Amino acid sequence: MTAPAAFARNAWYPAAWSRDVGRGLTARKVLGEQIVLYRTEDGRIAALEDMCPHRFAPLSMGKLKGDAIECGYHGMTFDGGGRCVRIPGQPIIPPNAKARSYPIRENMGLAWIWMGDPALAATTPVYDLAEYHDTNWSSVEGDALAIRCHYLSLADNLCDPAHVSFVHLSTLGSAASEDIPVQHEKRPDRLVTWRWIMDSPAIPLFQKFGKFTGHVDRWHYYHYHAPSIAVIDFGSAPTGTGAPEGRRDNGIQIHACHFITPVDETSCIDHWLYVKNFPTDALTTKAMSDQFRVAFNEDKVILEAIQRNEELPNRRRPIRLAIDASPMQMRRMVDQMIEAETGIKSESSTAA
Ligand code: FES
Ligand SMILES: [Fe+2]
Repeated sequence: MTAPAAFARNAWYPAAWSRDVGRGLTARKVLGEQIVLYRTEDGRIAALEDMCPHRFAPLSMGKLKGDAIECGYHGMTFDGGGRCVRIPGQPIIPPNAKARSYPIRENMGLAWIWMGDPALAATTPVYDLAEYHDTNWSSVEGDALAIRCHYLSLADNLCDPAHVSFVHLSTLGSAASEDIPVQHEKRPDRLVTWRWIMDSPAIPLFQKFGKFTGHVDRWHYYHYHAPSIAVIDFGSAPTGTGAPEGRRDNGIQIHACHFITPVDETSCIDHWLYVKNFPTDALTTKAMSDQFRVAFNEDKVILEAIQRNEELPNRRRPIRLAIDASPMQMRRMVDQMIEAETGIKSESSTAA
């Protein structure tokens, strides 16, 4: 599918796991821009453009001194707000001696960055999942999975339950779901894509950890929040116990969260974690996370192969199937965000 020419900027994007930002200088790339992150002495995260305004040396190659970064080339020093507080050898600090700074929030184990209009950051909440904070549930942090593909290709995948029957047969899928149609619905704050697989054996992951003896009813609800968040609510309950009508407490349920960082036009990072409604000991938790690693790596392999094909010259236009309705809607949502910011209409937001 055609990638938009730009990124939506007025959104919170995951920049790094909170656990990876401390009293050192952590370099990241978000929306094609180099960022340096660090914690101030009171524990808050500061984010600056990773480029000294003097000769463009990466600030991440400098030194953290108190709450300020000293550039490693000539020692200009910037505080967490990007203000220059020292220029070695001259007493006057010119007004344009500033590094760009970015608003940061922490939630759900991640540092979220705002790359757009800073005035809008204050009034836009960061994504949150109630179950993450619920003591009846437990959350497990995964990895930062680097994928060499446009982040919207990963977002396509996360609005696309149909691929699970083919890509994830050893973990999350089963052939029983191959022919079951996918449904989707645009809601004010999200796009939801789902399907139910009724009265069939549990998927391999749940055979391992769910202890089901008979058939189950299985659901997958893919909740997409534009532009780069997908939370997959999936679970299973013994067939005939009322799960489709809303009784899901006698089954097992997982919210698999994918918080995507668009790194640049051809790469992204999937920060994944999951929140589950059943306790597991440390060994079982590790075994489950390893199963997710297997599954998400299967996505990585196919998405990177698609990216390589998309970069070939003279490639044909993709054909559309019924299962593409939700990913196409997803792309329209992102295009509309970009259009609202830039006034530039994209091809897919004007398409029928
Ligand atoms: S490049 Fe940073 S002070 Fe010269
Ligand atoms: Fe997948």
